[in-house]
Amino acid sequence: MADMDKIERIAKMRGFIIPSSEIYGGLSGFYDFGHLGFKLKTKIENSWRDFFLKSDDILEISSSIISSEAVFKASGHLDSFVDPITQCNKCKTMFRADTMIEEKTGKFVEGLSVKELTKIIKEEKIKCPKCKGELADVKVFNLMLKTTVGPVEGNIAYLRPETAQGIFTNFSFIARSARAKLPFGVAQVGSSYRNEISPRQWIIRIREFNQMEIEMFVNPKKINECPNFSKVSKEKLRILTQEAQKEKKDVVEITAEDAVKKGIIPNKWMAYFLAKQMIWYQKLGIPFESLRHRHMLPEETPHYSKGNFDLEIKFDFGWKEVIGNAYRTDFDLKTHSKNSGKDMSIIDDNEKIVPHVIEPSFGIERAVYGILLNCFVEDKKRGWDWFKFPANIAPYTVCVFPLVKKDGLDEKAREVHEMLKKHFDSFYDNSGSIGRRYARADEIGTPFCITIDYDTMKDNTVTIRDRDTTKQERIKINDLTEFLKNKIA
Ligand code: GAP
Repeated sequence: MADMDKIERIAKMRGFIIPSSEIYGGLSGFYDFGHLGFKLKTKIENSWRDFFLKSDDILEISSSIISSEAVFKASGHLDSFVDPITQCNKCKTMFRADTMIEEKTGKFVEGLSVKELTKIIKEEKIKCPKCKGELADVKVFNLMLKTTVGPVEGNIAYLRPETAQGIFTNFSFIARSARAKLPFGVAQVGSSYRNEISPRQWIIRIREFNQMEIEMFVNPKKINECPNFSKVSKEKLRILTQEAQKEKKDVVEITAEDAVKKGIIPNKWMAYFLAKQMIWYQKLGIPFESLRHRHMLPEETPHYSKGNFDLEIKFDFGWKEVIGNAYRTDFDLKTHSKNSGKDMSIIDDNEKIVPHVIEPSFGIERAVYGILLNCFVEDKKRGWDWFKFPANIAPYTVCVFPLVKKDGLDEKAREVHEMLKKHFDSFYDNSGSIGRRYARADEIGTPFCITIDYDTMKDNTVTIRDRDTTKQERIKINDLTEFLKNKIA
């Protein structure tokens, strides 16, 4: 497996991801997607829509990024969305206290109070990693990014730290306008903002990132009535239970069905989403053994959740959460109802209820990194490194080139490219040797290359080269679209 530095370098060199404002020295915790990165990200989002939203007729909305202070007062983010922080008395650098202690001592300190963290820093004689200066007492730091709205001073608003709140505040509007009946899901894809104390590990912990979130609203009495559960019930999960974490044991491999029966997963709706995300991530190129669901310990569980299962990927630097799955119960709807004075209930079985929420929340940047890392092939034999992206998310599906730029081959190749563009992301390349063009296409993970040669001019056939096997076959131009559609499916 390559390491993060290499993937970061290649992602920049090949047009996927670059630090934001780089020409001015960058801005810590912010990154931009280049044309290939944007295509990859968009295709991941669309694959997610196809796989998760279509199957359960989940609705999708787009709410504003900035919301009033009242929203986050109600949601609890202004009071509880905090991380512990310590400052070096000498060089004044700020550090996230818990991660620093964990790195220095190997102790698990999640959920400890600021007093307890300060005590550990003193006992373990932890000094500033930069200048060895003394560290100040630990305080809490709120991660919300604040802004002011309009010309009136003091009109405070906040950038959303999760897309979810836009779904909760609009719950009654969505339910009424869609005439939705429980159970139903509402999804949102978009950017979220957290003023992280120390952005780190490239695009893993950043200050502006993208999420794909689903809020599944269910009647709490029917939390085990999940209509499509049987479609995934036999799917194998890898679960790191709370007990296993305490006793330093490994994951259990168990089907979704058995995990519910044994009480390892609290309900069928949660198990349904855990199983589906295992399937989805494997389809995107992450091996089964590099995926696991970790049942969060009570002290790390977010303020709004009755239980969390993080889907983690094994990266080059260790395991990291890529999806947060929370049983949010009726926490958000009730608190918004109380604070706004608006009724957030719905009728189900002739009864007025406030639904419970199961929330799978996917981070897009972490998905992108996991995919780049796992699809990267270091290939000495071929002489160049390449990406083995699944065809449905590869930035370009196909590359078309003429063998030579004369005798009408160039025009014919452009014709084929124009035809394919209607259905796929196709790019045209007529510069350099054929070998160099294959290399360029492989390097950005293009699954198929089509060459127009002299035989094409006689019989309307082309060669199509498979990126993974490098095997070539001859195929009629008229059959190309169907052939590629089947490959992608
Ligand atoms: N609405 C629930 C929620 O936001 P979360 O576990 O805090 O839950 C969900 O975040 C996902 O968002 C994470 O699993 C991760 O993939 C992504 N994420 C969270 N903070 C991030 C950050 N600072 N940088 C990049 N991705 C982040």
